[in-house]
Amino acid sequence: MPARIIGTGSALPEKVVANQDLEKLMETTDEWIRSRTGIEKRHIAVTETTTSMAVEAAKRAIDSAGISADEIDLIIVGTVSGDMCFPSTACQIQDAVLAKNATAFDINAACAGFLFGLTIADAYMKSGMAKTALVVGAETLSKMMDWNDRSTCVLFGDGAGAAVVRDDDAGIISIVQGSDGARGNALTCRNREVNNPFVKNSCELDYTSMDGQAVYKFAVKTVPAAITEALDKAGISPDQVKYFLLHQANIRIIEAVAKKMKQPIEKFPTNLQECGNISAGSVPILLDFVNQEGKLVKGDKIVLAGFGAGLTWGAAVLTW
Ligand code: ACO
Repeated sequence: MPARIIGTGSALPEKVVANQDLEKLMETTDEWIRSRTGIEKRHIAVTETTTSMAVEAAKRAIDSAGISADEIDLIIVGTVSGDMCFPSTACQIQDAVLAKNATAFDINAACAGFLFGLTIADAYMKSGMAKTALVVGAETLSKMMDWNDRSTCVLFGDGAGAAVVRDDDAGIISIVQGSDGARGNALTCRNREVNNPFVKNSCELDYTSMDGQAVYKFAVKTVPAAITEALDKAGISPDQVKYFLLHQANIRIIEAVAKKMKQPIEKFPTNLQECGNISAGSVPILLDFVNQEGKLVKGDKIVLAGFGAGLTWGAAVLTW
């Protein structure tokens, strides 16, 4: 049976940092950030952590689905910024929401993390391995930024989004995903180097670095292709789609995708203006915003698409 999204939730840090606040911290301007990216502000964690936001988003999604946590048999978290190397963020959520019957693990597909999580949940359901899943995207990217590098730190924000997914007679119609490791250098953050009694390396942690133009070119080519492939597989035309919910990296990428798909920009809701780019958190947070606004009606056809470091990408066509 396919997986259907039956509940959504999200959580953002309390602190809001506007472009004007960044002007006081570094050589940048509201005009530069807004015109290049569309971003006006972002939420930045002060007391919150990846796990605390993920747990809050998960609880809200469970409430919204109207299920009991012990019905959940699978928890998948897309994150590149977990609080701990282990246990996984997913296992910490399991403990916090009392989903004692779940198998829980994290995946790393960067900004495509939620789409990859959804793909795994769908595959588990189609094979009969799971019936009710919690799929989460959660990030505290602010700790992975070099706040002296204005070309990256202004782009990102913190937050978490979650969806409860259940096997049903309708739901995800088609999903495509892909990766291109050969272009991985476009967006990187190194982990600790080998360091032990036999070799000494720096223990300093690395920060995010990005070839912005390479990522831009990748996104505007690959995302429309992935969405078109998913729509073709589903036998659905772009005109039948109510909303295209894309990873919120940059308004210019979203406008370029809308143009290539020959679809009005109104069908591409955004929240990057107030959230920035939250990597794996971005798509489920946007989905929750749109759902909370009451814009989704049972039977609507929706497209979700994510793309990011790896390089990775994914697109899903689903019936709400
Ligand atoms: N404020 C002011 N000036 C800046 C800033 C800033 N925050 N950041 C960079 N600049 C300057 C640069 O130093 C450079 O100055 P120079 O010409 O004197 O050398 C100038 O602006 C242009 O820099 P570029 O990097 O060429 O700027 P570009 O026009 O390419 O825009 C951007 C950068 C917005 C990142 C663009 O490349 C882009 O949209 N890329 C898409 C990638 C993306 O959105 N990534 C998000 C994360 S990845 C993901 O989520 C998948």
